Parts: sequence; C-alpha cells; structure tokens
Amino acid sequence: MPRFAEATQLQTVGIDTFGREIQMAPDTAQAWLEMKRTSKEAGVNLLLISGYRSISRQTKIVQRKLDAGITLDEILRVNAYPGYSEHHTGRALDLGSPDAEHLTEAFESTHEFQWLQTHASQFGFRLSYPKNNHHGIAYEPWHWCGHS
Ligand code: DAL
Ligand code: ZN
Repeated sequence: MPRFAEATQLQTVGIDTFGREIQMAPDTAQAWLEMKRTSKEAGVNLLLISGYRSISRQTKIVQRKLDAGITLDEILRVNAYPGYSEHHTGRALDLGSPDAEHLTEAFESTHEFQWLQTHASQFGFRLSYPKNNHHGIAYEPWHWCGHS
C-alpha cells in the first residue's frame, strides 16, 4: 500500500448520518457533483457515505478495533494503516444505495453499483479495491477514487 498525504484543500459537500460534514478535494467535489446529477437523471440514487479522513481519524478507527480485541491482521484487511488510506487525499469516496446496507458487499447487487461500473470512469472515478486486489484489502464495491 502506498503512503498518502492529507489533502491541503477541502470542500464540504454533504452531511453524514452522524451529522458530520463530508469533505473532499475540490476537483473531486466537482466530479462527484457532476456524477451525482447525471446519475440522478438516469434514476440512480447514489448516496454519499464518506469522503476525506485525516490520518488521526484513521488512527482512532484502528485503535477502537484493537481495543475491541480485533487483531491488527484482521483490521488491515478492511482498514488501511493510518497514513496509507486513499481517504487522506480527499479523493476517495464511499458510496451507497438505498437498496443495500452501507459498506457491505450487498452494494454490488444494486442499480447504483451497476451504473457506477459503466459510468464512473467518465467522471474520473475508479474502483480501488476490486475482488482479489494486490493490496490485500477485502473487496470494497463502495470505495471509488477520483483521479488527482
Ligand atoms: N477501507 C479502506 C481500505 C481505507 O481504510 O482506506
Ligand atoms: Zn473507502
């Protein structure tokens, strides 16, 4: 896994289910808003779950799991080590659908995922962790990264 620096510029694009601002890099924000508008016109309801995460926030997520007794090996199958998450760059987005529990593989069976597979590249987004990826990260159909 490569190291990723934290974004230096961020734009607020929405609010998550905990009432926290969802932020992303300005270019990614523009690409996301265009993709959201285009998909909506096609009857596709892409939900924005999360964007930018600081290194310290990633540390807290990993620490909370360690405290719960989960081994680091298990944690690193689903969470990047702090400093190595694409979310630090402000270009990675976790996307959802009204038809699947958030951040589960069930997302791959939704119209939203099918639409992304065909159209996301037109907006500069690609799936970072497909099945059997080289990073050793579990399949994440919800995690899409915009180009820099
Ligand atoms: N869930 C992805 C791998 C991350 O933590 O960045
Ligand atoms: Zn993600």
